[in-house]
Amino acid sequence: MDKILVLDFGGQYNQLIARRVRENHIYAEIRAYNRITVDEIRNQDYKGIIFTGGPNSVYDDDSPHFDPAVLELDIPVLGICYGCQLIAYMKNGTVSSAENSSEYGKTLLYSRENPLFYNVPSESICWMSHNDYVSKIPEGFSIIAETDKCPCAAMADTKQMLYAVQFHPEVTHTEFGRQILKNFVVDICDCSQDWKMESFIEETVRKYRMELAGKRVLLALSGGVDSSVAAVLLNKAIGRDLVCVFVDHGLLRKNEGDLVETTFKGKFGLNLIRINAQERFLTKLSGVRDPETKRKIIGKEFIHVFEEEARKLGKIDILAQGTIYPDVVESGKGESAVIKSHHNVGGLPEKMSFKQIVEPLQDLFKDEVREVGKKLGIPDELVNRQPFPGPGLGIRIIGEVTEERLALLKEADAIFREEVKQAGLETVANQYFAVLTDLRTVGVMGDARTYGYTVALRSVTTDDFMTAEWTRLPYDLLETVSSRIINEVRGISRIVYDITSKPPGTVEWE
Ligand code: XMP
Repeated sequence: MDKILVLDFGGQYNQLIARRVRENHIYAEIRAYNRITVDEIRNQDYKGIIFTGGPNSVYDDDSPHFDPAVLELDIPVLGICYGCQLIAYMKNGTVSSAENSSEYGKTLLYSRENPLFYNVPSESICWMSHNDYVSKIPEGFSIIAETDKCPCAAMADTKQMLYAVQFHPEVTHTEFGRQILKNFVVDICDCSQDWKMESFIEETVRKYRMELAGKRVLLALSGGVDSSVAAVLLNKAIGRDLVCVFVDHGLLRKNEGDLVETTFKGKFGLNLIRINAQERFLTKLSGVRDPETKRKIIGKEFIHVFEEEARKLGKIDILAQGTIYPDVVESGKGESAVIKSHHNVGGLPEKMSFKQIVEPLQDLFKDEVREVGKKLGIPDELVNRQPFPGPGLGIRIIGEVTEERLALLKEADAIFREEVKQAGLETVANQYFAVLTDLRTVGVMGDARTYGYTVALRSVTTDDFMTAEWTRLPYDLLETVSSRIINEVRGISRIVYDITSKPPGTVEWE
C-alpha cells in the first residue's frame, strides 16, 4: 500500500491534511518532525512527504527544523505555510517578515500552469494565515502563484519534485484545495489509490485472527461508535474469546446504559458483561473540580475496574480499546500542542497489568470508522450516533460531579436531544448536548423566587470535529427546549445557548 508522510511541524490543521489525503484512498500518517529521521523516512518507502504548517518563524531560535537531506531523497515534497517557508530556508532562499505582507483569511490567488494546479482555474480563492513569506525563492524554483500582497504564494522546482504553497489547501475555504492535494498525491507522487475500508476490514480481521488466536481479549465497550466498531470487528476475528466489558460509570446519558446492554448483548450476541460502577466513580470524583483531574480520575478508574474484572475472569493479558487516530495525535504523540488529554489514551496508568493493548482503529479517522461500522452491518442509528466523550457527563458538569447535579443534567440533556430529534435537525447539528454550569442565578416561577443552576445548550455543525460552527438552531426550538427544561427540571432556572465556534472554543466545555 502506498503511503504519504505528513511531517508535523506543530500546525493546527495537520490532521486535516492527512484526512484530505485519505479522501483520495491513499494512506497518510502524521509523524512529528523530531520523532523521525531521514533514514527512517528513506526506509519507510513513502511515496510523498507533506511538510505541515507551524506556529513559528523559520529564523526563531526554537523553531522546528529538519535535516535538508530530506529534500534530496527523490521523493516529492509539498510544503504548506510554515512548511513552504522551511523549504525556502533549507534551499537557501530568503524568508522575510513584513507587516504589509501578512495575510489572514480568504484571499484571491493567481496561479500559473503547473502539475500542482492541474484543473485549478488561474484565479481562485485560497485561505491564508501567515506573517512571514518567501521573499527570495531558492535556485531552481519558480513562482507558480501569487496574491495581491504575497509575491510567492506558491513555488516549485518541478524537476526535483519540490512544491510549496503559502496558503492552506487542506481547509475547505480554499476553493480548489482538495484538487491541489489530489494533484500532489495522485499525479505527482503517483500513489495507488487502494486505501479502502473493505480491505481494511479484511486485513484487520485476518491479522487479529492470527495474532490473537487462542488468547482472550478484554474490550472496553462504551456504546460509542469507536468501541462498538472495534468490538464488532474483533468479534468477527475471535468471536467468544472477545470479552466485552461495559463499565457503566454512571456518567452516561439518560437510559443509555440499558440501551447499550440490550443492543450489543441482544442484537449482536457479543460476549458482554455490564458493571454498574456509578457509586465508585462518584466517590472518586467527590470534591474534584479541575477538568483535567476529572478526566484523569475517570480514565484511571476505568482501567482499574477493567483490571479487577479481568482478574475475576481468569487470565486475560490483552486489553482492546476503540482509540482512533485523532485521539492518538491529540494526546501528544504527534507534535501539535496538547489541547486536552483524551481519557482513552492520556489517562492510562504507567503500570498496567495487561501485557498488550490492541487498538484496531488507531489508524482511522472518525468518518473512516463509521464507514467500517456500516460495512460491518452495525445499524445507522449507532454508526451515526453523535460522539460522546469517554469521561461522559463528568466533563459536562462544571465543577463538582454529584449525584444530584448528574440527575439534573441527565434530564435537561434528554429534553434537548428529544426536541432536536423531533425537529428533524439531527443531521444539521452533528453534536448537541446540555452542560450544567456551576453558576446559580435568580429566577421567578409562579410568585416564588428561585435560585437554580444555569444550563448551557451546546450544538455544533462540523464534518470532522476539528473545526466546528455553532449550529444556527431555530429560535422556536430553543424556546421550547428552554421552557421545557425550566418547567420539568426542578433546580435549573436559566438556559443559555453557546455561540462559540471551534476554534477558538472547543466542543466540550471542559
Ligand atoms: P473538543 O472538546 O476537544 O471535542 O473540541 C472534540 C470532540 O472530541 C470529543 N471529546 C472526547 N472524546 N474522550 C473522548 O473519547 C474525551 O476525553 C473527549 N473530550 C472531547 C468531543 O465530544 C467532541 O466530539
